[in-house]
Amino acid sequence: MDASQMFKLTGKIAIVTGGKGLYGSPISEGLAEAGATVVVASRNGAECETYADKLRNRGLKAIGMSLDLGDDESINGFVKTVTERFGRIDILVNNAVTRDGYGDLPDMTRERLSHTLDINVNGTLLLTRAVSAQMQEQGEGSIINISSIQGVMAPHFPYYEEGQSSPVGYTFEKWGMIGFTKWLAAFYGKDNIRANCISPGGFDPELETQKPDFYRTYKEHTPLGKWPEKDDIKGPVVFLASEASRYVTGTNLVMDGGFTIW
Ligand SMILES: NC(=O)c1ccc[n+]([C@@H]2O[C@H](COP(=O)([O-])OP(=O)(O)OC[C@H]3O[C@@H](n4cnc5c(N)ncnc54)[C@H](OP(=O)(O)O)[C@@H]3O)[C@@H](O)[C@H]2O)c1
Repeated sequence: MDASQMFKLTGKIAIVTGGKGLYGSPISEGLAEAGATVVVASRNGAECETYADKLRNRGLKAIGMSLDLGDDESINGFVKTVTERFGRIDILVNNAVTRDGYGDLPDMTRERLSHTLDINVNGTLLLTRAVSAQMQEQGEGSIINISSIQGVMAPHFPYYEEGQSSPVGYTFEKWGMIGFTKWLAAFYGKDNIRANCISPGGFDPELETQKPDFYRTYKEHTPLGKWPEKDDIKGPVVFLASEASRYVTGTNLVMDGGFTIW
């Protein structure tokens, strides 16, 4: 296969959970630019549709739909609707995250932990269960999980400003996302379903003004000497979604400007 064709996603159907958010929007955009039809999904279906409309105005293929990872009916109804409408699901990007209930361990209660874990862990696993059943029927598929640098390291607490932290549940979930990816790759390899993970570095354009000391320290710690730009996630996600990575499964691609190498 010609390498220039390998990155094309023409005719592919992709789901991006949280696909209108900070990292979700360039993920949705990148997949659509590569030729996929993208289903932008989260609880606020109207906002997803507004974002999808922006992509359609550029001649790209996208729709917005409502999906609540905290609700089984919503998950199963969503997968059924997508499958009926498009006939298949080629790419699933598990990107959505809730930060409700996050905090440091001393502040945790069973109730707070249950809330976030139910959405970020149970919801992600149950959506993946429903989508992978469809992918099994098709005999192919690519699942991309979004972890974080917090999935390969511990938080640099000394870098944080007063009142800033990195939640204990987030570290637990993001390390788990990489293990979950390997489990999926091992279990579904026989069905020609690949599963890979991307662990991006911190990304929040507002931090430069809101937490200037943290922003500067983080940048200085990064070998490439800068924070990621909005489009930096597109290459890794299109690579892992496409034929370009067809013999790659179970891996974790760290996209952090080198932040975690030292
Ligand atoms: N930003 C960073 O610094 C950073 C760094 C490394 C990794 N990441 C990872 O990148 C991914 C996206 O993070 P982000 O910073 O871009 O987050 P974000 O902008 O806050 O977006 C999160 C998305 O998740 C959706 N969501 C929340 N609860 C949901 C639920 N119950 N069901 C379905 N969707 C739900 C939200 O939409 P609704 O409110 O409409 O549901 C929102 O679109 C996450 O996996 C995160 O861990 C982020």
